[in-house]
Amino acid sequence: QRWVNFSLMMFLRGKLGRYPPWPGKIVSPPKDLKKPRGKKCFFVKFFGTEDHAWIKVEQLKPYHPHKEDMVKINKGKRFQQAVDAVEEYLKKAKGKESVSLLSTSHYVAQSIPPHSLMLVVLSLSLSLSLSLSLSLSLSQDTGSTSIQAADSTAVNGSITPTDKRIGFLGLGLMGSGIVSNLLKMGHVVTVWNRTAEKCDLFIQEGARLGRTPAEVVSMCDITFSCVSDPKAARDLVLGPSGVLQGIRPGKCYVEMSTVDPETITELSQVITSRGGRFLEAPVSGSQQLSNDGMLVIVAAGDRSVYEDCSSCFQAMGKTSFFLGEAGNAARMMLVLNMVQGSFMATIAEGLTLAQATGQSQQTFLDILCQGQMASTFVDQKCQNILQGNFKPDYYLKHIQKDLRLAISMGDSVNHPTPMAAAANEVYKRAKALDQSDNDMSAVYRAYIH
Ligand SMILES: NC(=O)c1ccc[n+]([C@@H]2O[C@H](COP(=O)([O-])OP(=O)(O)OC[C@H]3O[C@@H](n4cnc5c(N)ncnc54)[C@H](OP(=O)(O)O)[C@@H]3O)[C@@H](O)[C@H]2O)c1
Repeated sequence: QRWVNFSLMMFLRGKLGRYPPWPGKIVSPPKDLKKPRGKKCFFVKFFGTEDHAWIKVEQLKPYHPHKEDMVKINKGKRFQQAVDAVEEYLKKAKGKESVSLLSTSHYVAQSIPPHSLMLVVLSLSLSLSLSLSLSLSLSQDTGSTSIQAADSTAVNGSITPTDKRIGFLGLGLMGSGIVSNLLKMGHVVTVWNRTAEKCDLFIQEGARLGRTPAEVVSMCDITFSCVSDPKAARDLVLGPSGVLQGIRPGKCYVEMSTVDPETITELSQVITSRGGRFLEAPVSGSQQLSNDGMLVIVAAGDRSVYEDCSSCFQAMGKTSFFLGEAGNAARMMLVLNMVQGSFMATIAEGLTLAQATGQSQQTFLDILCQGQMASTFVDQKCQNILQGNFKPDYYLKHIQKDLRLAISMGDSVNHPTPMAAAANEVYKRAKALDQSDNDMSAVYRAYIH
């Protein structure tokens, strides 16, 4: 057996979807952090980002032999910074640490003591057979409440599903991915959708069928809903055979649609007035992230419901936040989506101005992606625009609704939102051009004249 004479330097080959290869090292986990059951794993700290996660041992590979390949794949500046941080770390560690190690297979068989030094790299693999909820934004310093939610899915590819019966209303772009992941992770789910045929696929995957929202709520302990807008959310609860008809003391209702805080307050009041327990849990993400179980959940309301939903949130998301009283999650989500919508419109404006002044749009994108504004969002949206692909990942009509609601929220506290107001005008124009059911990136078309 060949000895590898460096400080347990390995890299990780993880099925982590959109995350590129990344260097990291094994550290000891926080004292109160439970180690995931099942497969052997280690707690890893990533260079450059300071994020942490539990990583399966078979996802570890030597760092040095693969470093060059990885640098070729990942040209991002942040990755380069991470590699620089590794080199710096090695320089400092030289002489101090003399941990030697057998081959990878030997390593796998060993129990590695805490504080062992190791480099790991997340490898890009789009074969997302796992629904991962790795919290790459997790930091020991901030102490996110979702640390355990994040680790167990990432490591085992599975979680312990709640034994509570789950209901889900609304199988649109968001709801479909969420329900698939709930089922994959072993939850018992009853579904309902206004257009009933959309339920068929999920029935084949093992879901039960509810005939009305009221029936789903009667059959389940926790019912989630994720529908278009405030009107749909209210209709679903207050309408005939609606949610309210099924609410009994102790039943939980979780509103995941992105709506205004007033709608949340009203729904919370009617549900709790019948003895129900209410949580709002809108999500940040896209259809792709919903399918991948990588949403960010922003919750508020009844904390005990938030806790009861833990395995569901692990299945659908990479992390979750709890923001206190009902209405706060709607407020926060509207602010987030206002920024996202305005940013998308600005990108479209830049791409079209580049073209109008005789500049290459591809070069504009290449330069943008080498700068500080580089992100998956910018890259994907611009690539799709340049390919003329406006298939919805996040409907234009929904982001316009979010801008409209955010502007109105600004109104309510006399806070100026001129950027959002300008962006909203462009989205309105895009809607008038029949782009509502395209992706939000179709706001680009509002600039084509
Ligand atoms: N897509 C994203 O990337 C994304 C990201 C974050 C948050 N969100 C938010 O999540 C929510 C859902 O988004 P989505 O993308 O899943 O939307 P979607 O694909 O348009 O689906 C909308 C869902 O709402 C249902 N619905 C609409 N009006 C209804 C009514 N009056 N009564 C009952 N059901 C009704 C639809 O039923 P039918 O099938 O019968 O039409 C469908 O199931 C929205 O609030 C959106 O802003 C979306």
